[in-house]
Formats: sequence, structure tokens, C-alpha cells
Amino acid sequence: MEKAQFGMIGLGTMGSNLVLNIADKGISVCGYDLDLGKRQQLLEVAEGQPVQTADTTAELVAALERPRRIMMMVPAGKIVDAVIDEIAPLLDRGDILIDGGNSHYTDTDRRIGKLAGMGIEYTGMGISGGEEGARFGPSLMPGGTKESYAHLKDILEKIAAQTDEGACVTLVGNGSAGHYTKMVHNGIEYAIMQMICDVYGILKNALGCDNDELHAIFHKWNQGRLQSFLVEISAKIFLQPDDRNPSNRLVDVVLDRAAQKGTGMWTSVSALNLHIPTPTIDEAVVARDLSVFKAERMKIAAFRKSPVENAGKPDKEAAIKDLEDALYFGMMTSYMQGFHLLQAASMTYNYGVDMAEVARIWKGGCIIRSIMLNDIRKTYLADQNLINLVFDKDFYLALQEQRQGLVNSLKIAMDYRVATPALSSSLQYAEMWGTGRLSSNLLQAQRDFFGAHTYERTDAEGSFHTEWN
Ligand code: 6PG
Repeated sequence: MEKAQFGMIGLGTMGSNLVLNIADKGISVCGYDLDLGKRQQLLEVAEGQPVQTADTTAELVAALERPRRIMMMVPAGKIVDAVIDEIAPLLDRGDILIDGGNSHYTDTDRRIGKLAGMGIEYTGMGISGGEEGARFGPSLMPGGTKESYAHLKDILEKIAAQTDEGACVTLVGNGSAGHYTKMVHNGIEYAIMQMICDVYGILKNALGCDNDELHAIFHKWNQGRLQSFLVEISAKIFLQPDDRNPSNRLVDVVLDRAAQKGTGMWTSVSALNLHIPTPTIDEAVVARDLSVFKAERMKIAAFRKSPVENAGKPDKEAAIKDLEDALYFGMMTSYMQGFHLLQAASMTYNYGVDMAEVARIWKGGCIIRSIMLNDIRKTYLADQNLINLVFDKDFYLALQEQRQGLVNSLKIAMDYRVATPALSSSLQYAEMWGTGRLSSNLLQAQRDFFGAHTYERTDAEGSFHTEWN
């Protein structure tokens, strides 16, 4: 049998869909999974395609042309290490092993180091787009060396999502840059999702919109400057009937306890470690955490004062217009925070990430794809060293044009006691960046008062301490 051009370990939803995507492009693939059922299932759906399966990892290795290109699509964590331990001794120098899962970037760095000693190229690659993306075109974020990317480029460009600016893949940067970038993608994903939920909360609980209205509003927004995958799917969600009770909408019976696999939290932890402010991402993680306390919330809600007692009746049409501005503002600040973090991490870890390229490969295939990435890309193309988009005057002023809409929306939310953690934090984020003199002078004075931590002065160089009375 002819040698296959690509190997896949892990034939779950993502792995098998990627295999089919690769085979669609005329690239022969050999798949392996411990589970015989998954191997058989793949062969059934891939009938007539250049797809074969292997019964063991040794068979997989023997079935591949060299240098071998093998992707692991297995759950992040210990399983990745177990697969590496099994397969690495079977590989030859120059072979390439790709981890396509959501691995933590520090694990990726450790694995790169370990495999480099054996002459094996290890590529940590972020993949976004879920099941649909894997099958028909994901956004791919590989990190690693130019040499190993040269062996992957053709295949990855063929299977990635395609946009007016090319395939949604690029060599993101050195070492664990690919997984770091995917982690930041997910942090932004968390922030935008929560932002949409905040807006939904106001539309439903303060303005009284029903699911048909919600669908129409999000659908319309998706035709304009909020065009994005997450706004698009939100519009669709409002129409979905409940199978168990078809006269009801499913969204109304979905329990309000949000789950998470950890990538959003990793983003916040990394941002805190690097001292880069990403408050909206942080709030989005916190909101998921808090949502889990359902029983406690129900108890407190039972004795809370009626939220709308003194609230005026907002002009619905004007409020919906304001919410469009608010969502634009919130989404933009989510991107700002993510790109700021990525730029800072790239400098700290010598990743060499090109922000304009990241904006380009996020334009298609991934969960956070949106029309806003066009402007973000343009801004970074004009200044690739820009630390934060908020420092760009035109960009900041464009954001400010939406500010009043956000403020009006938040006033309604406060009157109606609708929680808006992400939207509120976006406003505060932009307010702080635009404030020349913050109240942090008092904070410095407090630190010096109780701990002799010293402070700087506005009118003289140096470090000062005062015996405060
Ligand atoms: C993507 C997603 C995906 C992520 C899930 C689940 O880009 O396709 O980010 O990789 O794992 O969305 O994430 P949570 O369970 O943490 O919400």
C-alpha cells in the first residue's frame, strides 16, 4: 500500500472531521485510535476517500511517508504525554508531531524541549472552529520552527478556512506561540460570549423582548458592524424549539449554570502574571464561576427587593440602538485586551508573533471571527509594534463614538438590576485608559502610610517616604 501523507491519532469528533477535511483535499491520511469502533466508523464515513486506519501506533508509523507528519487530537493533559511516550520512540529524527488540542502553553514548551533531544519536531497548534470548522475549514494556529512548518504549510493551507486574505493559517511564532495564541483566542471568546449574554439579559429582562424579537435583533446586528460568528449563532439559538415541548424555545429551558474547560481562566492567569489588564476576560471567567452557584442565587433572589420598582420605562427602539453600540464597544475592548496580552507575551517569551497575521487568521474559521478583525488588522499593519489598539488615536476615538450607547444601556441594566459583568468592565477598562490622572495617587499614599512602601511625586524625581500623621 502507498504510504500515507498524514497521520492522525485520536479519531473523536475533531480528529475524524479533520481526517475527512484533509482527505477531501486529496491528501492521504492514516488514522489511529485505541477504540476499534472509532476506527471502523471513520472507514465507513470515508469510503472512497484516501483514508486508511492503523491498529497500533507502530502500524501508523510504518504507514506514513517521511518525514512523518502526525497530529494528536486527544484530550489535553496527561493523555498527550502518554501518547507522546508511546509514539516518540517509534519516530525518526526530523519527524513532526503536532498537538492540535487545547494544551496549556507551558506543557507545550516542556514537550518541545523533551522531543528536541530526540530530534523530533514538536508543533503545538491551536485549532478553532469546533466540529464544523474541523470538517470544512478551521482557523489554525501552529507554533514552532520554520523548518517543520515548511513540511506542514501546504497541507494546513488547504484544510484551513479561506478568506479574501488567504487561508486562515500562519506560523504564529516560536515555541508554544501557537497554543498561547489559541489560549488568548479563547479568552476573547469567553469575553464576547459573556458580552452577548449581558446584552441578552437587558433585552429580555429590562426591555421585555421575546425570542422572536431577540432573533430579529441579533440577526439584523449580524448584517452590520457586529457581523460575527457568535452574534450569528446567538440569533439562531433564539429560534430553536424545544424537542420535548415544541411550542417552547429550547433556550428558555437551558439551565443557567455555565461550564468551562479552563482556557479562559488560563488566559486571565497568564495576564495577571504578566501584569497586563484583561478585566473583561477576567469578568467573563468570574461570571461562569458565579453562575454555578444556582441554588444560592435562587435563595437570595427570593428575598431581593423587586428590581423594577422604581425603574422608568425605557424607549425600546432607542434602547436597542444603544445596545448595538454597547455590544460593539464591548466586543472591541475584548479584542483590545486579548491582542494586548498576546503582544506582551510575544515580547516576554520571544514568540515573534505578528499581530496583523493573527487578526488575518482569525477572520475565518474560528469562534471569534468577526468583521471587526478587518480594522484591527489594518491598524496592526500600519504599526506592527503597537502594544494595545487603545493607544491608536483613531481607534480610540472610534470606540468613544459608541460610549454613550453603552452608558445608556448600563443605566437601564442598573435600574432593572440586570447583571452585566462584561459590559460594565469594558466601560471601566476604556475609562481608565482615557484617564490621565487616576485616583491611584491616594492608593500610593495609603501604601506608604501603613507600610512605608514609598511613593513617587508629580513634581520631582525619586522615591519618597513620609511619616504620615
Ligand atoms: C474553539 C473553541 C474550543 C473550546 C470550546 C470549549 O475555538 O473551537 O474555543 O476550542 O474548547 O469552545 O471551551 P469551554 O468549555 O471552556 O467553554
